[in-house]
Amino acid sequence: MAATQGREIHLREYPIGVPTPHHFEIVTVPVPDPGPGECLVRNVWMSVDPYMRGRMRAGPNFVPGFDLGKPLEGACIGQVIASNNGPFAVGDYLLAEKGWREYWLTSGDVGTKIDPSLAPVEAYLGPLGMPGMTAYVGLLRIGLIQPGETVYISGAAGAVGSVACQIAKLKGCRVIASAGSDEKVAWLKEEAGVDHAFNYRKVSNLNDELRTSCPQGINVYFDNVGGEQLDAALRNMAMFGRVVACGMISLYNAESPPPGPPSIFRVVTARLRIEGFIVFDHEDMRPAFLADMSKWLRGGQIRSKQTVYDGLENAPKAFLGLFKGENFGKMLVRLAPASA
Ligand SMILES: NC(=O)c1ccc[n+]([C@@H]2O[C@H](COP(=O)([O-])OP(=O)(O)OC[C@H]3O[C@@H](n4cnc5c(N)ncnc54)[C@H](OP(=O)(O)O)[C@@H]3O)[C@@H](O)[C@H]2O)c1
Repeated sequence: MAATQGREIHLREYPIGVPTPHHFEIVTVPVPDPGPGECLVRNVWMSVDPYMRGRMRAGPNFVPGFDLGKPLEGACIGQVIASNNGPFAVGDYLLAEKGWREYWLTSGDVGTKIDPSLAPVEAYLGPLGMPGMTAYVGLLRIGLIQPGETVYISGAAGAVGSVACQIAKLKGCRVIASAGSDEKVAWLKEEAGVDHAFNYRKVSNLNDELRTSCPQGINVYFDNVGGEQLDAALRNMAMFGRVVACGMISLYNAESPPPGPPSIFRVVTARLRIEGFIVFDHEDMRPAFLADMSKWLRGGQIRSKQTVYDGLENAPKAFLGLFKGENFGKMLVRLAPASA
């Protein structure tokens, strides 16, 4: 084994409000030797995701909070580099929840072998992984999108949003998208093929923007952002519209929850349905998702973008960048070059 020491990132304290680099600590630890029946895995890629902010607080949550003084967790792609009669072969790629560290052990209880021939391995953290499946479940099962419907997607140039825009187009919808930079807006129009996109930071009135771009109303709003964008979307929903409550990133660093959207009564008058979902509850859709998504990626019908930071030491920067719109597509951290 080449390295005898590895690194991992711990949470120093629970942030209140916007987290800063001070909340994270990089810790050097010995690289463990695989015991009998174990494999040693070196992480090649790890994911940073907005939901991790929800785990950075004490007390009950929809996923357990991170422990202070222990490595953070999250999705990663690792490669087996040593095996002591373990369940995987040296060179195998594994998808696991062992991010924020460089090395880990498995006796088969942790990690699922992935097929690197379907797509570059990091796609299992993006379009072929949890974010892609979130877009798929949200639109097809929760939003029940139909050809010809108008679908509005906020956070549209991110990991979930960029895939959602393209699935909705593949399903024959008219897609309106919002994102936080002109470069993202240009990509959404030119590469993702949406019908209209706008930079929400530049529009003077979101409600007017949506009224003009969705003259027949919004049939399905795929909400990644919450707050003002949800309020403006509710005002512009068509009768019997559906709001897919996927996430509300604009609220994740709030010190106390703001009052509900002023337009909430529209839920009654326009007979709307708002439904939240967590992708993990929809595992039964995984085979269909993997079949469709690998076909769409291979055929170039879904194009993916990623923003990459190199080195474990930059993982906190990558995570904090999610809340500043620094990522275009999936935010990833590359931890090591993959060996052949
Ligand atoms: N329900 C589920 O099972 C599930 C699963 C995965 C993700 N999610 C949710 O889906 C949403 C997107 O996740 P993702 O992984 O795809 O992240 P992402 O969109 O790749 O990254 C976050 C993006 O959010 C935007 N943003 C950040 N702060 C904002 C603010 N205050 N107002 C408006 N936009 C803001 C930024 O883009 P701009 O440049 O456009 O501002 C940023 O790039 C999140 O809300 C996440 O929690 C839900």
